[in-house]
Amino acid sequence: MTRPRRQFLALAGGLSLAGAGFSGCSDNSGGRSGTRPGGSTGSGSGSQEEDEDNEMGALVKSRTALPRPFQVPLPIPPVLRPVRTDGTTDHYELTQQVKGSRIIPGHTTMVWGYNGVFPGPTIESRSGRTTVVRHRNTLPRPVSVHLHGGRTPAEHDGYPLDLVAPVGGSIPRGHGHAAMTPTSVTQGQKDYVYPMDQRAATLWYHDHRMDFTGPQVYKGLAGFHLVRDDVEDALPLPKGDKDIPLMIVDRSFDEDGQFLYPSLDPKLASRPGVKQGFMDGVLGDVVLVNGAPWPVLEVEATRYRFRLLNASNARIYRLTLSPQPSGGDAFVQIGGDGGLLEAPVRHDQVELAPGERYDVVVDFSRYPVGTKVTMGNSLGTGETVRVMRFDVARKAREESTVPSRLSRIERLDPAKAVTRRRFEFVRGDVGGMRGWTVNGEAFHPDKVLARPKLNSVEVWEFRASAISHPVHLHLAHFQVVSRRGRRPGPYDSGWKDTLNLKQSDTAEVVVRFTGYRGRFVFHCHNLEHEDMAMMANFDVV
Ligand code: C2O
Ligand code: CU
Ligand code: CU
Repeated sequence: MTRPRRQFLALAGGLSLAGAGFSGCSDNSGGRSGTRPGGSTGSGSGSQEEDEDNEMGALVKSRTALPRPFQVPLPIPPVLRPVRTDGTTDHYELTQQVKGSRIIPGHTTMVWGYNGVFPGPTIESRSGRTTVVRHRNTLPRPVSVHLHGGRTPAEHDGYPLDLVAPVGGSIPRGHGHAAMTPTSVTQGQKDYVYPMDQRAATLWYHDHRMDFTGPQVYKGLAGFHLVRDDVEDALPLPKGDKDIPLMIVDRSFDEDGQFLYPSLDPKLASRPGVKQGFMDGVLGDVVLVNGAPWPVLEVEATRYRFRLLNASNARIYRLTLSPQPSGGDAFVQIGGDGGLLEAPVRHDQVELAPGERYDVVVDFSRYPVGTKVTMGNSLGTGETVRVMRFDVARKAREESTVPSRLSRIERLDPAKAVTRRRFEFVRGDVGGMRGWTVNGEAFHPDKVLARPKLNSVEVWEFRASAISHPVHLHLAHFQVVSRRGRRPGPYDSGWKDTLNLKQSDTAEVVVRFTGYRGRFVFHCHNLEHEDMAMMANFDVV
């Protein structure tokens, strides 16, 4: 599909930018024509990277031929085996390394991966057993590993300035608003200790390096971490090879098949930020599921459980199945960020913002054998309207059901909240540069925007500017109380750790700060916003 008008704008933008340098988070001068709505500009690389008006961000156009959809089987990330287990603890080891991977035909893409693979190996923890993951960093840059959705002591939570320096390497000096002193540096490797004192849920781990989370996750630093428990195991839900994690991301590729990310500093050494036009977020034109472009899964005509994770930097998906099963309700949601819901919720479509997880059951017995069912994305454009395909291959005996009662969820009562806080997610000044803020404040390691007491219940109200901001809290899970003063949305059930806060929207959540005292962050999970300072500390006291 060609869009002559946009190409013209992209070219014009490219020309007007010639010699003007870049902006991203580092230049206040020069009009920002990439701001929506209406304006659109090419990046500093001219027409190669084309903006697209979108409330999520701007599209980076691949410079290589896009792969054809539905040519490759869905990969399932390997499950990591512990190197050692004892009465209380399972020990794992991962090496973060650069490794070539076949992602698009005819090219080897250099991935920054956990054990060199993307997605990283899946870790499976048992609720109540401690998991220790030793992360060795053989990448050229520092890292910080965050277990998203984990209730983790602060020193193991992947605070953005708790860095693991490369083996034999050092921490590059910061620049701009990145000139922050690391809170801690471990050399070469770090043991992350996760008490796993939490219910069964689909968690994920990813990089969280200060100012460079966006590009480092984009290069491949993300994997699943599942927590299992007896309550969930006792349910007759789809299991084994019918319980499948699906990590959905969008990426773009350069002429050599390498990930194409519009960093101001492609070496990710010291200068954070993205090129002009991409501040709203970086969108790719290739959809990868478990690291493969538009893959195909052959399924039996039975129920499957899919653990959907949107690990994209900025893209929001609205997933659909086509054809729809007759009678609709293609997706039966059984879980969210924080594990099983109380009761299943039926949806024709599921909307996922970056960082969110939805556990859904799809019943392929509702389709005749031979049906090819496309999972689409009704928020996409061009090729990103497709995600993957399920081919219903054969009949099989059904061994699972979805019980009408899934789990017990304690309702937090907003009327019992001891404190009410308000946070606005808005554009703003970041040390003299344009960036993103919380309540007008750019992230600073010494600035603390909230001091909730351990075990207290609070109501937090979030307000978004004219663009979406998926709000994520470390440590504390929450329940959605309202949206725009009315009842929560269709995807807000159960325990959440990431809220799909839409443009110009408000929402209230009720949250209890349990587990650990210490300093944690909350931030926008649009990774470009996060890297450009839309993050804040809270101290649990
Ligand atoms: Cu998934 Cu602080 O992030
Ligand atoms: Cu998190
Ligand atoms: Cu945001």
